[in-house]
Formats: sequence, C-alpha cells, structure tokens
Amino acid sequence: MGEKIRLDKYLVEMGMGTRSQMKEAAKNGRVRVNGIVEKGTERKIDPDSERVSLDGKEIFYVKMEYYLLNKPQGVVSATEDKFHKTVVDLIEGRQRKDLFPVGRLDIDTEGLVLITNDGELAHRLLSPRHHVDKQYYGVVAGELPKDAARQFRQGITLSDGTVTMPAQLTELPDSDLAAKGNTQVLVTIQEGKFHQVKRMFEALGCKVVYLKRMSMGPLKLDRTLKPGEYRALTEEEIKELQGTCHT
Ligand code: URA
Repeated sequence: MGEKIRLDKYLVEMGMGTRSQMKEAAKNGRVRVNGIVEKGTERKIDPDSERVSLDGKEIFYVKMEYYLLNKPQGVVSATEDKFHKTVVDLIEGRQRKDLFPVGRLDIDTEGLVLITNDGELAHRLLSPRHHVDKQYYGVVAGELPKDAARQFRQGITLSDGTVTMPAQLTELPDSDLAAKGNTQVLVTIQEGKFHQVKRMFEALGCKVVYLKRMSMGPLKLDRTLKPGEYRALTEEEIKELQGTCHT
C-alpha cells in the first residue's frame, strides 16, 4: 500500500481547483472514490489502490514529475509572470500544479532546464556543496584574453567582489562565428550565481552575446529537442540524477 493522501490535497495537487472549490464539488456530489459519491474531502486515499473521479473523469495521482525542456529565448525561468510566458507554461502535458524550474536561466539564455516538483533533488542539484557541473555553450564578442582559461580555473572575482569557484573554459576551434570576430566557448561551472557566466566574462572585459545550457550533472540536452520543446525524463535519468548528489 502506498502513502495515503487527503482527498482535497489529491485533487488540488492534480490541478483540479482550490481546496474550497474541491470541498464544494464534493458537497455537490461531483467527486467519487472507487465509484461511490464522497461528500466530504477529509478522507485519506491510497493512490495505488483507490480510484478518484471528478465529474465522471478519473483523476490519476502523480507524485513526482520530471521534464527536460529546451528553453527558448523570451521565456522566463519562473512559475508565474505577469508579462512573459514561463518555462512551466511550456510543459503542456504537466499534471501537477507545483512544478518549478531547477535553477534559473536568463530570459535571453537558451537550453536545458529541468522542471520538477522534487524539491529535495532540486536543492541538491543547486547546492555548490555538491559540485554538480553545469555546462554552457557561449558566443563571446571579440577575442578572449590569452590567460582566460587559467583565470577561470583559479576563480574569477566578479564586479561585486565575490569570487567564483574554479571553472573550466574551453575555446572552441575556429568557425564562421569566429570569423566574424566572435569566440565560441564551452564553460563548466558548479554554482549558479545570478548571471554568473556573463559576469565571469565581463570581469575579463568580454561580452557574452549568446548562451545556451548544454548539461546539468548527468543530464544532457537532446539534439532533437528544438527550443520550446520538452520531454519527460526516463526512469534511468531520474535514478542517475538522484545518484549524482545523494550525500
Ligand atoms: N549564467 C548566466 O550569465 N546566465 C544564465 O542564464 C545562466 C548562467
């Protein structure tokens, strides 16, 4: 038998409405448990063995959801926003109401965002203590100082005086972009300070003109996911993520 959950919580978490709306719905005979009308919402439900329906439609309980999104530019890494679409809005197939992005990408940054309601996992992935690598592909205007990689390795002092943890910087070989006077880079950091990658380059006198997150720990962005597209994580990926930072 699984963990039991109150009927109102069950329905609210599955996005059916507020707690008081669910109470009202039950009072009006719209909620059934195992096919029988349930007039109150205090009853505890075992999601593994009991069936809940609202207005005749069965509502399946999902405890945890995990999605990998390729965030497009122009979308904010938040759960709600007055002016912009959020990364959570893009997960059309979501069932839970409490999904959030694990870490923030700037509005103009693209790439991998993990979206879940697993707060414990999020905390461990984001804590610098766990040294989870986040890799970014970037395009920097102009050329980098010769010792840029060494400076990244040693930790960069940002404009507000904070010093970053050691980071890895790799300059990618020449390409069309480089020919236009830009430099392509791969950067790996283990923390997530506000605008961190951009500010690290700023400290070297360089401007990031494009940024895309490629990976977070063992999780890699699929080449097949276009900006704005997402997919559920596989069981294997979830296990791998949980195993990355179990201490
Ligand atoms: N670093 C940044 O500067 N921006 C991001 O969106 C992510 C990392």
